[in-house]
Amino acid sequence: MNQVLRQAHDQRFSELIRNRTGIQLPVHRRQMIESRLRPRIAAVGASGFEGYLAQLFDHGLLEDELPLVIDLLTTNKTDFFREATHFDVLVQEIVPEAVRRAAPHPPRLKIWSAASSEGAEAYTTAIVLAEAQRAGQRFSYAILGTDISQRMLDRARRAIYSAEQLSPVPAELRARYTMVGRAPAHAGTARLVPELRDRVQFMHLNLMDRTYPVDRDVDVIFLRNVLIYFGPEDQSAVIARMVSHLRPNGYLIVGHSESMVVNHPQMKQHSPSIFRKT
Ligand SMILES: C[S@@+](CC[C@H](N)C(=O)[O-])C[C@H]1O[C@@H](n2cnc3c(N)ncnc32)[C@H](O)[C@@H]1O
Repeated sequence: MNQVLRQAHDQRFSELIRNRTGIQLPVHRRQMIESRLRPRIAAVGASGFEGYLAQLFDHGLLEDELPLVIDLLTTNKTDFFREATHFDVLVQEIVPEAVRRAAPHPPRLKIWSAASSEGAEAYTTAIVLAEAQRAGQRFSYAILGTDISQRMLDRARRAIYSAEQLSPVPAELRARYTMVGRAPAHAGTARLVPELRDRVQFMHLNLMDRTYPVDRDVDVIFLRNVLIYFGPEDQSAVIARMVSHLRPNGYLIVGHSESMVVNHPQMKQHSPSIFRKT
């Protein structure tokens, strides 16, 4: 393939991924991109990355391959109790305040994990809220997890994690909220208990969509460690849409490295990576 066509395909691919997912693929990361796409390059029998792009753009494979490409290009790293201070603020401040505000009735909290990956963020939230209920706080809650990656959503719905993945969960909570797999195929794994799984729903959602099919009175949105992959325009647009789904006084929680990105007239900084709708 000649150099000019190759560059044109490269550029078209980066623009396509940016338009469809918001994710920026700088040219200097081409090696990483190629290595992540290797399974698809092999699956379609292409001779290499260039051959694969030619199949996508010139031989009509694009729409079939795109979901698989997105699954491979997203960075899905997540952990239980990641950036744990956020969960402290949730149970020590946000929940008691909601309970006081709704008194004498128990409030129903709506929480959204807006780039949920394989579910650790949503289930950590479920665990800490279940613990707050055990400690006597009267409220109910529903958690929504959304992500662009179908592969991650499938894992999140299964709610089966390795011992290593569950290691940040304190032993007492692991004992209470997970069931150890007995079948040989599940050795070394544990599944979250049904009481937690019932509180969490997972749904496919692309943050680049103009509108989101989500309630507009959400109490807390976790939007952590995803804005970093987007350019400034997409970051602002996503934040504006998120704000429109928060109830007045609702909270937006971003990753510790993302707090500079939240610059919206309706959002007031509560603490470094937590913002509140005015
Ligand atoms: C690094 S993980 C962060 C997971 C979790 N929020 C955390 O902080 O541990 C980023 C997630 O964002 C998702 N993502 C990337 N672009 C997206 C988009 N346009 N719409 C929805 N999810 C997206 C990826 O699939 C990935 O699972």
